[in-house]
Amino acid sequence: MAKNNSIKKGVEKIIIANWKMQLDLKDSLILAKKMKSKFAKFKKGKVVICPDLVSLRDVGAILKGSNVKLGAQNVFWEEKGPYTGEISPRTLKDIGCEYVIIGHSERRKNVAENYEMIYKKTKAVLNTDGLTPIVCIGENWDERKTDRRDFVLAEQLQQALGGLEIFDNQRIIVAYEPIWAIGSGTAMEPQEADYAHKIIKLTLNNMFGMQILNKNFKVIYGGSVSSKNVKDFNSENIDGLLVGGASLNAEEFYKVADIITSK
Ligand code: PGA
Repeated sequence: MAKNNSIKKGVEKIIIANWKMQLDLKDSLILAKKMKSKFAKFKKGKVVICPDLVSLRDVGAILKGSNVKLGAQNVFWEEKGPYTGEISPRTLKDIGCEYVIIGHSERRKNVAENYEMIYKKTKAVLNTDGLTPIVCIGENWDERKTDRRDFVLAEQLQQALGGLEIFDNQRIIVAYEPIWAIGSGTAMEPQEADYAHKIIKLTLNNMFGMQILNKNFKVIYGGSVSSKNVKDFNSENIDGLLVGGASLNAEEFYKVADIITSK
């Protein structure tokens, strides 16, 4: 009884590298090879790399059969049709992607991606067997400063996921990324991050129930995590990390993954 009524702790952590548009094809392949060998014996958690769209296929070929999984940074919500410049979930799956980032704040800001689109993308990805959405949420500095964070997070979750039916075999990762911490070099205070993760999990509990929260969801943190501060995020409420800058170097990224998965 108690088991179904409390948030599950100590789940397998997932560490996701978001390479953004930081590397060209050549450097993506070099780094993918380094990551593959660095993580060859890593068994403490799941590791995912999200290169840019053009590098996906070749990075996937390098990672094939290894411990490191492939993810994309964006996707469209339709399966097929006249959608110039877009990529379908099915095509991502076909080239070996198992994960896809949806609604990163840089897309919300730079190409006006909104939560209506994020909802449609999440739904399409959930309906693609074997593909897991990484849905990004997070408040901006002004919202944080004026104590509106809890409300903003609940609202974003509602807009991104409200009304979705989650089936037994489907998984969703919610990436909590306070916009003001991304790429700033200053991560969030650990107690604050822990608190925000609790709020997100309680909201998901209200939306989907504890059983689905525990089985189908992970909630991870992103925003200026590095080997220097990652220890602070080793909390039972934080199920993993979305890492930008610190994922552009195999040694550094390995340290981050190693520390966050240490007991
Ligand atoms: P950062 O990026 O680690 O460089 O702050 C995180 C992200 O945007 O996913």
